[in-house]
Amino acid sequence: MWPKDKIIHGDALDILEKIEDNFVDLGITSPPYNKGEKHQGWLVKNVRYNGASDRAPEEVYQKQQVDVLNELFRVIKPGGSFFYNHKTRWARGKMLHPMEWLQKTKWTIRQEIIWNRMIAANIRGWRFWQVDERIYWLYKPRGGDQIGKELKSKHALLTSVWRFPPERKNNHPAPFPLLLPTRIIHSILDDKKGIVLDPYVGSGTTCLAAKLLGSSYIGIDISREYVRDAKARMENYLSYKKVVDEEVSRHIVGKTFTDRKRNNENTGKHRTGVSAFQARLL
Ligand SMILES: C[S@@+](CC[C@H](N)C(=O)[O-])C[C@H]1O[C@@H](n2cnc3c(N)ncnc32)[C@H](O)[C@@H]1O
Repeated sequence: MWPKDKIIHGDALDILEKIEDNFVDLGITSPPYNKGEKHQGWLVKNVRYNGASDRAPEEVYQKQQVDVLNELFRVIKPGGSFFYNHKTRWARGKMLHPMEWLQKTKWTIRQEIIWNRMIAANIRGWRFWQVDERIYWLYKPRGGDQIGKELKSKHALLTSVWRFPPERKNNHPAPFPLLLPTRIIHSILDDKKGIVLDPYVGSGTTCLAAKLLGSSYIGIDISREYVRDAKARMENYLSYKKVVDEEVSRHIVGKTFTDRKRNNENTGKHRTGVSAFQARLL
């Protein structure tokens, strides 16, 4: 059986190929975006990884992403999910949308979540200031069931627009805010404990969230330096508990959909504005 609670140095695809079928409950990642490295950001420092180039011909990059995503499909259990963070990019005026390669994978695309990061590099006037990224909820059908189980109301009432500022206290050039993998793991696994995998784990944020929520983890990164730093972060995991508790405390609901329906109250179907509950989360 593949060892759990490890952060492994290596190439994502090479390591994934060694993991057995249907082993992992949930995956989360943000891959390198193939942005090219020569463009300088002046508002936020430019992203340069230690140990990997972020510049390949776009078709090579997209093919690599499809291969990694299909390997993830194999190692994740039927009924399991993978959350894939990416963004829209442009090359010589042509938009490159993650859907282009996601639709070539085996995954069922369950939802597109907008991540409002509130800040971004490279402000130029060709387009409105792009502060959003996307998070794709990918689902591995179980049997013929393409839809999967419902989330509990306390999770589903969070909206499909997530507003998390970037992480600042971290030496990695592009880390997740800890709130982000915490939201995903808590919503999907809820009280269940499972194995959470991140094939481009960087500073180990996904593993930190998994451990603090009581799950096991597997992280992979091609940079020895990031693997070393991620392991050091894991040793100190309890100092991050407050952040995880903060996110968990947002997943509350006074009344479920069923309660509202029973009392003939607003179920959200015809709601035009933003409820006080949702406003609190924005
Ligand atoms: C956007 S960062 C992930 C950051 C991470 N979410 C965090 O919270 O720190 C992408 C990571 O992919 C790693 N990487 C690049 N190419 C890789 C490959 N072929 N296999 C595994 N990791 C790779 C980089 O070293 C970098 O740490």
